[in-house]
Amino acid sequence: MKQDTQLQVQGGPEPVQDPHRSLHSETGARPGEHPGRSGNPLVKVAGLAWLEFEKPDLDRAERFYADFGFTVADRTPEALLLRGRWAAAACLVVRRGPQARFVGPAFQAPARDDLDRLARGTGGTVTAHWGGHTVLLRDPSGYPVRVVHGVPELPALPERAPLPMNFGQSEAGPVRANATQRPARRPAEIERLGHVALGTTRFREALDWYLDTLGLIVSDFLYLDGQRDRGPAMAFIRCDLGSVPSDHHTLAMALMPQSGYLHSAYQVADIDEVAASGEYLREQGYRHAWGLGRHIQGSQIFDYWRDPDKTMFEHYTDGDMFDATMEPGWAPMSVSGLAQWGPKATAEFTGAKDPRVVVAAIKALRDKGNEIDLHALRGLIKAMSS
Ligand SMILES: [Fe+2]
Repeated sequence: MKQDTQLQVQGGPEPVQDPHRSLHSETGARPGEHPGRSGNPLVKVAGLAWLEFEKPDLDRAERFYADFGFTVADRTPEALLLRGRWAAAACLVVRRGPQARFVGPAFQAPARDDLDRLARGTGGTVTAHWGGHTVLLRDPSGYPVRVVHGVPELPALPERAPLPMNFGQSEAGPVRANATQRPARRPAEIERLGHVALGTTRFREALDWYLDTLGLIVSDFLYLDGQRDRGPAMAFIRCDLGSVPSDHHTLAMALMPQSGYLHSAYQVADIDEVAASGEYLREQGYRHAWGLGRHIQGSQIFDYWRDPDKTMFEHYTDGDMFDATMEPGWAPMSVSGLAQWGPKATAEFTGAKDPRVVVAAIKALRDKGNEIDLHALRGLIKAMSS
């Protein structure tokens, strides 16, 4: 063990390894690097409102979503609205469509005026939408991005409290005495939508668009190993709520040979909820993608699953919350750098063995106007295998 990875606990007999050393992006930007926030954004969104998908088979989709832990808020022959337990608008909007696809995200504007400012700044229009208002934008990757305000919240639903844990010492005694711990293997109780992760062939342009237009700020940058001078190739981006702590990332965005949805993540009460609901999904025969583990950027305890259309969804708990004072961290991109502990990320998770990625890479190299070149591809392949 190297000296710089040790902390000497005062009065204690054993040096303990500092888990932050050589795992976390504790180093900040170098002079001249991307600052990770806009000097003058159009608005500052307050969070994700919902994600929109299309699915050819709504019955099959509903079965998976119920097993994954959503609550059905509404169902019509053409659409399915799903929600978490916390008070909020439905966080998943699924419409019947010819093929399974992610449509786009909707972000929450704190004030009605924000929509006017966005419309003026982007040439968009404010329209009535589900009892509130919206402006529909398009990001540089091509996604339709809604910003909404005033859509009524659904009231909170009852949920299980986090399990009491017998940690540490207390003069009052254990928090759980004469009582057992029996988390049920059943569908999770999803509390809320946490984040969406997107791939893009125009990372830098899309990054600046989200910072300048929606006022998002970067929590962590990843760069291609050995190519830091190209700038970042992935960003974990949060909402700027000033002194109010916000999820480490609401949007994660990475340079990829193909623009597309990677996964979305939903918060549950505690680690037992992540693990026991995963056992339930396994018993139902769903495809596990990666987990259980704890991320580095964001620190969430995570578990990834695929729905019957191979769309990836994440259960998580215990994520980092940063206020606006936290500066972006910088670290090299690698698969092994995605988790502090847990199994090695599988090709099922990274998509590294998907033959469509090779086809997309060749197409991206030919297409003009994106950020994919041979150097970038080499860096991405290295990241996927390290
Ligand atoms: Fe995630």
